[in-house]
Amino acid sequence: MGFRDKFKDAEKALTFNDVILLPGWTTLEPNEATVKIQLTKRITLNSPFLSSPMDTVTESDMAIAMARNGGLGVLHRNCSVEEEVDMARRVKRAEAVIIRDVVTVTPSTTVGELLKLMEEHHIKGFPVVGRGSKLVGIATWRDVRLAEPTLKVRDVMTKKVVTGDEDITLEEAKQVLHKHKIEKLPIIDKDKHVKGLITMKDITLKGDFPDAIRDEEGRLICAAAVSPFDLERAKALNKYVDIIFTDVAHFHNKNCFEATKKLIKEVNAEVIVGNIGTYQATEDCITKLDGIAGVKCGIGSGSICSTSVVTRAGAPTLFATSNAADAIRDHKSKISVISDGGIRNPGDIAVALSVGANATMMGNVFAGCSESPGRLVAMEGRYYKEYYGMGSARARKKRFALDRYSQPSKAINEGVEGWVPYRGPVADIIHEYVDGLKAAMGYIGASDIPQMWEKARLALVTERGYQEIAPHDIMTPGPNRLL
Ligand code: XMP
Repeated sequence: MGFRDKFKDAEKALTFNDVILLPGWTTLEPNEATVKIQLTKRITLNSPFLSSPMDTVTESDMAIAMARNGGLGVLHRNCSVEEEVDMARRVKRAEAVIIRDVVTVTPSTTVGELLKLMEEHHIKGFPVVGRGSKLVGIATWRDVRLAEPTLKVRDVMTKKVVTGDEDITLEEAKQVLHKHKIEKLPIIDKDKHVKGLITMKDITLKGDFPDAIRDEEGRLICAAAVSPFDLERAKALNKYVDIIFTDVAHFHNKNCFEATKKLIKEVNAEVIVGNIGTYQATEDCITKLDGIAGVKCGIGSGSICSTSVVTRAGAPTLFATSNAADAIRDHKSKISVISDGGIRNPGDIAVALSVGANATMMGNVFAGCSESPGRLVAMEGRYYKEYYGMGSARARKKRFALDRYSQPSKAINEGVEGWVPYRGPVADIIHEYVDGLKAAMGYIGASDIPQMWEKARLALVTERGYQEIAPHDIMTPGPNRLL
């Protein structure tokens, strides 16, 4: 191939702003569309949104909010293994039909120690187990709140415990809790060993979040990011997470592939790999990594990325998504595609889904929510939250995710730092984005996401054309956050 052929054969790496969706014949009103989509063999999302594994985006609060609103939060890895496991544990403990890994205390635990445990685990009641691990009482907030910290649990606990057996149904448990006006029901076996705990809080929460995605035990689903080389972290998280994401900027790399093969064998969580950006990379993932559940696509499109500026290498999210989706289809594979980076509004999501994505990942959008880590900052009468790239100097200072980028020089950052406008609770953003997405589906005439793959057609817009399709020739009172 001549050098000039590199221009002739150059592919068009189109991005969100390059295209629009063409309206199509429709027999459907937007509110009849569904945005439910299968993400992996075990998990179907009610809203096709994931929050990015970044330390300004997804910790436990975000992951809980995402799962409760039908999406999925991916916990970041820019922290110690213990901290990431703790975040996952908190998500799994947030709700459950039956809490299985019950924290128990003994009669000789002091009230002071108990109060510390309550704060640490964010729980308000503990079964008390005595000799032979048999249940002897229950100590709840009501028993200890006014007690001297030096007293022992045996002095303050409720000794007559109402319990349920292992076959109890949720409905029966509800009635028992109601009848005895209690909040917690320890589940015990015939030898009085504690096998679980059912709480009123968990039962009532179910009604509050009809879109929540839960595992078989009624716990919220949770995902976490790991380096493909950090097998220990993956193994430690395995007990608590449903999906493990390999989290590197350029996954199409021999060492990443070899490490991931080992990782897949060691965990029973489903594994989604990324990030990748080309047809060839997807093909290699399908053919060389047996057992993966999906690929995450997009390199350099993120709002905080400077990768493509620093290196001039990248695969814009839309281009990457369509390449991956084609490779999957050509190989008759069933793995899913997640579009990651550069998504600002429901229209971008609609386009990503139209070129074959199952779901979309967003950092910037969710960084501005109440549930993201970090403080609200007021600047010139507006509120903001901090947001920085995982390749930025700020994130790299923590040193846990340095291997996300292959850094030939410590001086090169592949991400920037700044603030994003505060947007309020995740629930509001997800509702707004689902409504916007359904409106787009109405224009396309697609009743669900698989129909978008088949029906949606794209047209190219020029840069000047893009100016016309955005609001223009009007003074508006403030920035429109969806633009
Ligand atoms: P948005 O546009 O939603 O993008 O803010 C979030 C995604 O960007 C990726 N990411 C980075 N990419 N340098 C990069 O090149 C970085 O420092 C960086 N930090 C995050 C990541 O895939 C995320 O989901």
